[in-house]
Amino acid sequence: MNWKLYSKSIELILKNQSVTGAYVASPSFPTYQYCWLRDGSFIAHAMDTAGEFASAEAFFRWVGRTIQKFSYKVEEIRQRLETGQPIGKDDVLHTRFTLDGEEVYVDSTWGNFQIDGYGSWLWALSEHVRLSGDNGLLKELSEPILTSLRYLELVWKLPNYDCWEEHPEYLHPYSLATVFAGFDSIASLVKTGQMDATPVVVEQLAQKVKEFILEFGVYEDRLVKHIQPAGPNASPEPVLDSGVDSSLLGLTIPYNVFSPHDPIIQNTIQTIEADLHRPDGGVYRYLADVYYGGGEWHLLTAWLGWYYARIGKKEQAQALLEWIESKEETGGFLSEQVSDHILAPIHYEPWLKKWGPIASPLLWSHAMYIILINSIQEDKTR
Ligand code: BGC
Repeated sequence: MNWKLYSKSIELILKNQSVTGAYVASPSFPTYQYCWLRDGSFIAHAMDTAGEFASAEAFFRWVGRTIQKFSYKVEEIRQRLETGQPIGKDDVLHTRFTLDGEEVYVDSTWGNFQIDGYGSWLWALSEHVRLSGDNGLLKELSEPILTSLRYLELVWKLPNYDCWEEHPEYLHPYSLATVFAGFDSIASLVKTGQMDATPVVVEQLAQKVKEFILEFGVYEDRLVKHIQPAGPNASPEPVLDSGVDSSLLGLTIPYNVFSPHDPIIQNTIQTIEADLHRPDGGVYRYLADVYYGGGEWHLLTAWLGWYYARIGKKEQAQALLEWIESKEETGGFLSEQVSDHILAPIHYEPWLKKWGPIASPLLWSHAMYIILINSIQEDKTR
């Protein structure tokens, strides 16, 4: 364990948390000057595993205020769906916001419709309650919690961008897993009496999402990356030619749609290990990745390690941790991805020209590193 890098990671996250509570995705990469609910939820969770509860709370309050600011959209979406009107890209709740909680309009082509952050923040909030032992936020944030549940209930079967902000034509088992976890974690909080019952039937919805994933997101006992949504005369179906994606780890750790020992998970992880984990190296997103040539991602390397730590394969977890630590950059930074063994070299330069050097530090990378250390150490993340 490199405790210096661990402390530096916490320091970096605190330093780059706005007074509003938002976490910037990367302070030095122009395109990432915003707060994504996806990145932020994992960053808050990392801070919770490190005992930095005040930082996580400030983030959740920021999410709460931001969601309430745009909550009027949920009723509008309901009406649009009921009357068969189309839902435009800005009719939805966005995936990222300025640190002041405003929508971002610098790039009109950005895929704003990504549902996963809305499931992830509910999951991270319920983990915050468990790890901090303080359920005060549940009452304070009851409105944004309800807004998120109502929103997810309406939109979970609509095609939207995946967690890599690609493929808006499909549904994605990863994103559906976050929705499952959102409903399921609120159902547990209600069951244990920590929260008042909600008008959204969370327990049934969690079950429905899980059944949907099982029916359409699994092929030959393996998870697929995408699902073709239902058409006018067609039911949804698994997309078979996309290959595996490392984010599918999320279906077990942390979103718990399936146990880590479920054969579907074991088969999927075997494929991730074979196709996406470079021997003695890090973990790729997916084989056809061209973003900055498709490098190894710290956050996914840590994610695979998190899974290993949870199932008791501590040595494998430790090896991944050491790989991440060996790639620490000047200033104690962890970047988004490491380019030593890229999958598609001809695509590196064009991205460099377009957006500048790879994001570093990336707060989500530091967050997953913190989560991995704590899961190896004490299993505090359980
Ligand atoms: C990644 C997203 C991430 C965003 C900000 C994108 O390149 O694909 O998953 O949320 O960067 O870190």
